[in-house]
Amino acid sequence: MTGEAPFLMSPSPSERPILVDIADLRLSFGANEVLKGIDLTVARGEAVSIIGPSGSGKSTILRCINALLVPSSGRITVNGVRVDALRTEAERIELRKRIGIVFQQFNLFPHLSVLDNITIAPIRILNVPKAEAERHAKELLDRVRLSDKVAAYPGQLSGGQQQRVAIARALAMRPDLVLFDEVTSALDPETVGEVLSVIRSLVRDGMTSILVTHEMRFAEEISDKVLFTENGRIVEEGSPAAIFHRSQNPRIRQFVRGLGGERDDLGHGGGI
Ligand SMILES: Nc1ncnc2c1ncn2[C@@H]1O[C@H](COP(=O)(O)OP(=O)(O)OP(=O)(O)O)[C@@H](O)[C@H]1O
Ligand SMILES: [Mg+2]
Repeated sequence: MTGEAPFLMSPSPSERPILVDIADLRLSFGANEVLKGIDLTVARGEAVSIIGPSGSGKSTILRCINALLVPSSGRITVNGVRVDALRTEAERIELRKRIGIVFQQFNLFPHLSVLDNITIAPIRILNVPKAEAERHAKELLDRVRLSDKVAAYPGQLSGGQQQRVAIARALAMRPDLVLFDEVTSALDPETVGEVLSVIRSLVRDGMTSILVTHEMRFAEEISDKVLFTENGRIVEEGSPAAIFHRSQNPRIRQFVRGLGGERDDLGHGGGI
């Protein structure tokens, strides 16, 4: 969070322990180097947004953090774990238990109820007793404002509702960190606001988050820090005000103005 609550007693971002630490991250697909030395730190409880043009490497950064991609070189540490040094799939699966990821596509199991979609991983992967997993799932459904959809199936829900179930499913693992990759991009405009509202409340509650988003107003409002990527590099990093209002980089000014203008109606939609 920025600006809005300067008098809270919680430590400022700079005093919080570092949860994610990335240094000189490089990744190539064949001859194509798509990450060209990324440095990024995220403190516990921080919300960091990554913005930038299509193809600039945003999703690739998230996939490296989650060990879905193995970097060519560089260092990634998440909560003390050297992600780049993980060698077996079992180690990567272990890491992914601690990191939630929410994509543009929700990928819910269509044959399972909302409740079962949320409890299946805690029960099967974390061995949480069923009753406890269901209690937690209902609490999370309350948090994403879907208490009335416990027994519904994904096909009976709107896109925005399905995405909120996907967020609850990620939280059900009690992750250290949640990665959001353009989670509102596939939604009808009228359901974007309800999803952003849920993410906003998670961030306010201190969920450490890295968000790739095209919702410029939203990124400005909720982020502690914003990074602008272009062509595999972070070309500027700073406070939301520094990136959105004070950047001297013409490319950033143009990007922020262009997308921000287009999406004005969405960034603050849905009564949030
Ligand atoms: N599996 C892959 N194989 C080869 N090239 C890939 C692969 N995944 C991504 N790339 C390339 O890596 C570059 C970065 O892609 P990435 O998906 O990270 O971009 P992005 O910033 O998330 O873009 P968008 O805003 O469109 O989602 C692009 O040039 C893309 O074509
Ligand atoms: Mg992407």
